[in-house]
Amino acid sequence: MKENIHKALPKQIEPIIGNVQSLSYPTRQGATSEVVFLHTDHGKYVCKCSSLTNYRIWLLKEAKVMEELNNTNSDLSIPTFLNFWEDDDNSYLLMSREPGIPLREAMLAAKTYEDKVLLIHSFGTKLKTLHEISVPLEWMQQENWLDMQLKKATYNLQNYEVDGNRQLLNSLKENKPRDIPQMLIHGDCTIDNVLVSDNQVETFIDLSGVSFGDPRYDVALAIRSFHYDKALLNAFYGGYTLLQISEEEFDYFDGGLYEFF
Ligand SMILES: Nc1ncnc2c1ncn2[C@@H]1O[C@H](COP(=O)(O)OP(=O)(O)OP(=O)(O)O)[C@@H](O)[C@H]1O
Ligand SMILES: [Mg+2]
Repeated sequence: MKENIHKALPKQIEPIIGNVQSLSYPTRQGATSEVVFLHTDHGKYVCKCSSLTNYRIWLLKEAKVMEELNNTNSDLSIPTFLNFWEDDDNSYLLMSREPGIPLREAMLAAKTYEDKVLLIHSFGTKLKTLHEISVPLEWMQQENWLDMQLKKATYNLQNYEVDGNRQLLNSLKENKPRDIPQMLIHGDCTIDNVLVSDNQVETFIDLSGVSFGDPRYDVALAIRSFHYDKALLNAFYGGYTLLQISEEEFDYFDGGLYEFF
């Protein structure tokens, strides 16, 4: 889609953000969408486009969550929702472009190990602020998050290609971790989905998984790329401070549940 994306952008965009002067693209595109950066006479914007049905549903969910959180929580560092459109072939989410680069890129670019430690510490600190934010009341009245995820995992196993298998899913259903209080979670809190600016993790992006849910899922995905490195893990928990997950909990969420999404 990349070469044609400009032609395919909805006509309604320019009245909102001004004349598009140039386009650029992120270093890495995700699996479920194409992202285009739009530079206009008013500023910098992002259009995220999806074409497969399932991914269009996720994009709509991201749009709704972003708009609702923009309206209820000004302290939360996420992009500003601008609009959402659907046509026969694609769905489009238009939002503000936030400064920074994904934490994965910042880690690769870090000059010293100490710089990496500071980045990961700021990731923990930022995730703490997200987990401490109060959620809209209706979100708290939903079914238990893990039970919902296990139902979605069953559906995904039956209908889509996923990495997990039936045996793993049965074991996840039989060996649920102990109950802990639910809170606002990101739902896909990897180092690809937070932006670093001025050497600090500042902004959460890719918000379709945001829910009132189990914070251990965020922690497991946050630490998945460095959990074997004690100094980085300690730096993360030094910033996060709310809880630490056991090896079993890490395996349950990262090696288990995540295999179905
Ligand atoms: N609002 C934004 N401001 C700045 N950069 C952004 C913004 N939204 C997305 N990006 C850039 O685009 C990349 C892809 O965006 P995003 O993570 O939302 O989509 P995705 O990874 O395709 O989604 P998915 O994980 O659902 O496949 C990000 O890594 C980031 O570099
Ligand atoms: Mg992403």
